[in-house]
Amino acid sequence: MQTNNSNLILTTDFIQNNPVSGKVAWQSPSNLAIIKYWGKYGRQLPKNASISLTLDQAHTDTSVSYKLKSLPSEDIIVRFWFHDLRKPDFEARIVKFFDSIRDMFPFIAQLEFDIHSTNSFPHSSGIASSASGMSALALCLCSIEKALFDSLTDDAIFLQKASYVSRLGSGSACRSVYPYMASWGSHVEIDGSSDDYATPYLEDLNEVYKSFHDDILIVSATEKSVSSTAGHGLMNDNPYAEARYRQANNRMTLLLEALKIGDLEVFGKISEDEALTLHALMMCSDPSYMLVEPGTIQIINEIRAYRADTKVPVYFSLDAGPNIHLLYPHNYAAQVEDFRINQLMPLTTGQCIQDTVGLGSKPL
Ligand code: DP6
Repeated sequence: MQTNNSNLILTTDFIQNNPVSGKVAWQSPSNLAIIKYWGKYGRQLPKNASISLTLDQAHTDTSVSYKLKSLPSEDIIVRFWFHDLRKPDFEARIVKFFDSIRDMFPFIAQLEFDIHSTNSFPHSSGIASSASGMSALALCLCSIEKALFDSLTDDAIFLQKASYVSRLGSGSACRSVYPYMASWGSHVEIDGSSDDYATPYLEDLNEVYKSFHDDILIVSATEKSVSSTAGHGLMNDNPYAEARYRQANNRMTLLLEALKIGDLEVFGKISEDEALTLHALMMCSDPSYMLVEPGTIQIINEIRAYRADTKVPVYFSLDAGPNIHLLYPHNYAAQVEDFRINQLMPLTTGQCIQDTVGLGSKPL
C-alpha cells in the first residue's frame, strides 16, 4: 500500500537569498531488527513489514557545514571525513545518494557540503553502520531545510521526512530516528504504517522492552563477503521469497501482542526464528552464501542450553553477519553477565559491545 507523500516531497524550493551558510549536527543510533527486512522493490521499499530495537550506545555523530556554491553548477559537491580522514569511497556513495534526493531537497545542487562523521562502535562489529550513518545524514539535511526555509517545524513531520530520506539511503536506517522501537512497512495491525517511512512503536510497548539489553558478541570482525544490498537482490529469485514475506507479516502480528503484554517467551522465539530464517534465506539464495561461522552456532547452542537449564529469558538475534546479539531484560543483567563472561566470551574474539535500547536520534 502506498501513502500520499506530498507533504514529504518538494516542501522546499530553491534558495533565493545570498549569502547562505551554516552548520547542523545530529547523533543517530543503529538498530537491531527483530522482524527482519529482507527483500525490496521499487525505490528501496520493503517486501514485508519489519520492526527493530533502537540502540543506545552504538551511534553515528554527523555534522554538515554548508555554503552557497561560488559558481552555479548541477554537480553535487561533497567533502566527507570519517574520524577526521577523507574517505573517497564513502564520499562517492554520499554524492550518489544526494543526487538521488534532489527532488526532495532542490537546494542540494546550490550548496557545497563538508561532512564529518564518527561512529561510536568499531567497523564490521555486527552493528549496522549504514542505519546510524544514513539516518544521521538525513536528519542533517532536514535541519538544513528547516534552517533555510523555516519548514518542517512540526517535530512529527520533521522525523517522518528524516525517516523517509534515511530509507532512500539505506532501508533499515528509516527505523533509527525513533525511540525504543520502530516499525517500517505497511501492516494491517499497525496504524499509520507505511512502506515509505518508519512509524514509532511507543504507545503499546510494554515497559520491559524499554530497558532491554543487546550485548553484541563478536565472533568475527572480518568484512562480510556479500553486502546486505546484494543479499536483498538475491531474494528476487529466491523460490521461498513469497512464503517468507507472508511469514514475516504473520510473525509481526504475533510479535505485536508480545510487545504489548510483555510476553518474553514469544518475543524471544520470534527473535531467534527471524535470525535463523534470515540466514537460511542466504543459504538458499542462488548463488548460495553463508555469513554464520562455527562460533555463531556454538554460541546459539550455549544460549539455548543455558535458557533450558536456568529459565533465564535470554535470547539471540543475528544481523547480516556472524556476530550474536544477546537479548535480555534489565532485571536479569547480573545473571546474564556471569553466563556471558564465563561461557560465551571464550567463543568470541574477546570483543563484546554492551548496549541497551535507547531514545533515538538527537541534535548535537
Ligand atoms: C538484515 O538496510 O542494510 O539488517 O536497504 O540495501 O541498505 P539496504 O539494506 P539494509 O538491510 C538490512 C537488513 C537486515 C535486517 C533489517 O535491518 O531489517
